[in-house]
Amino acid sequence: MKITVFGSGYVGLVTAACLADVGHEVLCMDVDKARIARLRDGEVPIHEPGLEPMIRANLEARRLAFTRDLDAAVSFGLLQFIAVGTPSGPDGGADLSQVLAVAQGIGERMTDYKVVINKSTVPVGSADRVAATIGAALEARGEAIDFDVCSNPEFLKEGAAIEDFTHAARIVVGTDSPRVEALMRECYAPYIRLQEKLIFMGVRDAELTKYAANAMLATKISFINEIASLAERLGADVEQVRRGIGSDPRIGYHFIYPGCGYGGSCFPKDVKALIHTAEGVDYPARLLQAVEAVNHRQKQTLCAKLSQALGGDLAGKTIALWGLAFKPNTDDMREAPSRTLMEALWAAGARVRAYDPVAMPECRRLYGERDDLALVADRGQAVAGADALVICTEWKEFRTLDRDWLKARLRLPVVIDGRNLYDPGSMHAAGLLYHAVGRGV
Ligand code: UGA
Repeated sequence: MKITVFGSGYVGLVTAACLADVGHEVLCMDVDKARIARLRDGEVPIHEPGLEPMIRANLEARRLAFTRDLDAAVSFGLLQFIAVGTPSGPDGGADLSQVLAVAQGIGERMTDYKVVINKSTVPVGSADRVAATIGAALEARGEAIDFDVCSNPEFLKEGAAIEDFTHAARIVVGTDSPRVEALMRECYAPYIRLQEKLIFMGVRDAELTKYAANAMLATKISFINEIASLAERLGADVEQVRRGIGSDPRIGYHFIYPGCGYGGSCFPKDVKALIHTAEGVDYPARLLQAVEAVNHRQKQTLCAKLSQALGGDLAGKTIALWGLAFKPNTDDMREAPSRTLMEALWAAGARVRAYDPVAMPECRRLYGERDDLALVADRGQAVAGADALVICTEWKEFRTLDRDWLKARLRLPVVIDGRNLYDPGSMHAAGLLYHAVGRGV
């Protein structure tokens, strides 16, 4: 099939690469000149395991191409995937301007039947807005060309995106058109395993499914973080509680790991957007508001625990940071707990000495050169002579730890672990003042 993908961000690139990889002809369009130039050379601007070789192989096989040319993009695909950004607006609602700009571009140029597919996370009712935009643009041209708009939300996790695409738990398609259903089956047909994972439903059902999935996962995280805060105050160990509740299959072990708050480009944005959508229909979403508030509070606990452990004064202190990314296997720092911590430390007059296996260039891009931020080559350099260590991301390479090695390097033996990587008993036995999440302070 001929497929156009609008947007060469995370979702757009993974979708384009994976669909080309099973034999479709894919043209991926973006307005960003530099990005398209790099992609044409097989240089992938995001860190995602397996994506770069897949893009290179499909560029070579000429099944995948990149363009900035909107005319070419619209005329190319029978299927037109919209995978552009939907950032949070100032009121927490999703900003649809990029999605509607693509819809406008399609409506102004299309000459034959198209299926326009919303892959970006867009609020309930967006497919109707995309259809109205395309319809109005066609009308302005005096054309009456047939088209359909459907919703096919993405459930990829950063760091595991290729695996999530090729072995999806489900593919949700929102449409009431049998023609679209047949075309979407054909699109995913090469993924034989995925055939039985296709779930067809109404357009609004599919749009709400995406938000409900992320809101549910965010709720599980805020729930366990709340239990962790209680455990700290009640002398209980949340890791034992997690094992105890996870063993109930109705609860399950997934997504109940306590931590320093959820970050990334999805949960924070999508929970806020759903709260905003609820307000729009006069329904205050109390549970979602609480999920968001608990997460906000959780991100601040690292600095609060650190300040308490260092006697309340952070001014002039040097704090070592292990992990900057919002989670392992990505360089993404959007809404990362490390940022809340660093910004609080700088406001208090402390210096940060940080190490992350891949996110340091991103950190430099976000914060630039500054005297109170050093990015160092390994975790040993981060802790050498530092007043305390804080762990923000559970990178695999942090999982092993020579306790005596660490103690010998830190000026004060304070370790604040936002990811519960180590056994508190052995940390204390080594003389480290170890503060994890929900494991007794
Ligand atoms: C999330 C969802 O997991 C995907 O299913 C969804 O497709 C995606 O958003 C999206 O909407 O595009 P992602 O943001 O890549 O994926 O990251 P997750 O692995 O879900 O982690 C999100 C945050 O939750 C991270 O900060 C992580 O550290 C935190 N987390 C996760 C916890 O604190 N505890 C857990 O038990 C799990």
